Amino acid sequence: MLINSHTRQIRLLHLESSEQDHELVKFALRRSGGTFDVARAQTLVDFCAQIDRIDFDVILSDYRFAEFTAIDAWNEVQRLERRPPFILLSHAIGETAAVDALKHGINDYVLKDSLSSLVHVIGRAIEVRDTRLAKARADAELAASQQRLAELTAHLQLSIEQERASIAREVHDDIGGALAAMKFDLAWLGRHSNDAATQMHISAAAEMLQHALGASQRIMRDLRPAVLDQGLVAAIQWMATGFEKRTGIKTTLRTAEETASASKAVQLVAYRTAQEALTNISKYAQCTAVTIDVSDHENVLTVEISDNGRGIAKEDLEKPNAFGIKGLRERAKTVGGWIDISRNAGTGTSVIVSIPLNGPDLPTSF
Ligand SMILES: Nc1ncnc2c1ncn2[C@@H]1O[C@H](COP(=O)(O)OP(=O)(O)OP(=O)(O)O)[C@@H](O)[C@H]1O
Ligand SMILES: [Mg+2]
Repeated sequence: MLINSHTRQIRLLHLESSEQDHELVKFALRRSGGTFDVARAQTLVDFCAQIDRIDFDVILSDYRFAEFTAIDAWNEVQRLERRPPFILLSHAIGETAAVDALKHGINDYVLKDSLSSLVHVIGRAIEVRDTRLAKARADAELAASQQRLAELTAHLQLSIEQERASIAREVHDDIGGALAAMKFDLAWLGRHSNDAATQMHISAAAEMLQHALGASQRIMRDLRPAVLDQGLVAAIQWMATGFEKRTGIKTTLRTAEETASASKAVQLVAYRTAQEALTNISKYAQCTAVTIDVSDHENVLTVEISDNGRGIAKEDLEKPNAFGIKGLRERAKTVGGWIDISRNAGTGTSVIVSIPLNGPDLPTSF
């Protein structure tokens, strides 16, 4: 690539003690047709003053000076935020010095008697620098956007859990309260009526009422899991028992350690992972057995939910309208954890959530 002289002026600093060599460089640059704004430094002090003041696009430097070398100048450039490319422009300096210079990271090396290649080398060095800066900018933007996404996910999840907890309270206080009161009234009616037909209706109503009470308790537990009150293992045990009852799929919980050291936020992430994995199993796995392993071995909380069904396919994980597993991954990240999925056709699916127990914590106020 060559420098586009019409669109860009190149601010160049030439560290050179010889007046004659400096003039030769200026001449070579002028002849190339490029537009250069050339400054010159002769001492290290002057060099430092200029690079601090001006944002140069490129630096050319002779190698050996009376009291310093180009390596000293290079070291000074390192403290700049936007480091310009640094090109050695000297007479032959010997292989060792050249290798040493490149090892330090100096971008290129041009011999004073091949000035014809100078403009090309400058153009290339600037292009490499621009690409590097553009990439660094893009990386920083990507990292910032990922950070914003993670914060939004954490915020949304906290809001969802708070909302669920408040609905659970409403179900408990309003519906649960009203049903309990009706139960007393039905009992009173039963005691004060001798009519067989009335008694039959009362007992049918009591049965329906019991059913409604059971349903409201189930809804409450789903909304505000027992994990918040009784710990992860008890909550998963309850979930596993309910799942087996509902689906007829044999479900075994294996747990070696107690997971009391995990925070509520971590336990809730583990719980919701198991919940989504079981929902998926009931929808897709076509299996006959499920195993849930809970462990906090080596200070990492792991919950593994495995089925012996048809196995999840790679494409399944990329389905556009499926958010269960994607949500689990984001959710795990909010507490410093991650999700692994093993997908083996014929041998079923395993969903594993792992969360280091000394990781970052989420605020919990459900
Ligand atoms: N245990 C499993 N066995 C077989 N296939 C599975 C299993 N779990 C998930 N899958 C497949 O992976 C896909 C993605 O699951 P995911 O939970 O992300 O989305 P979904 O359940 O389809 O939708 P959503 O969870 O958003 O309601 C499912 O559509 C299904 O095809
Ligand atoms: Mg799902």
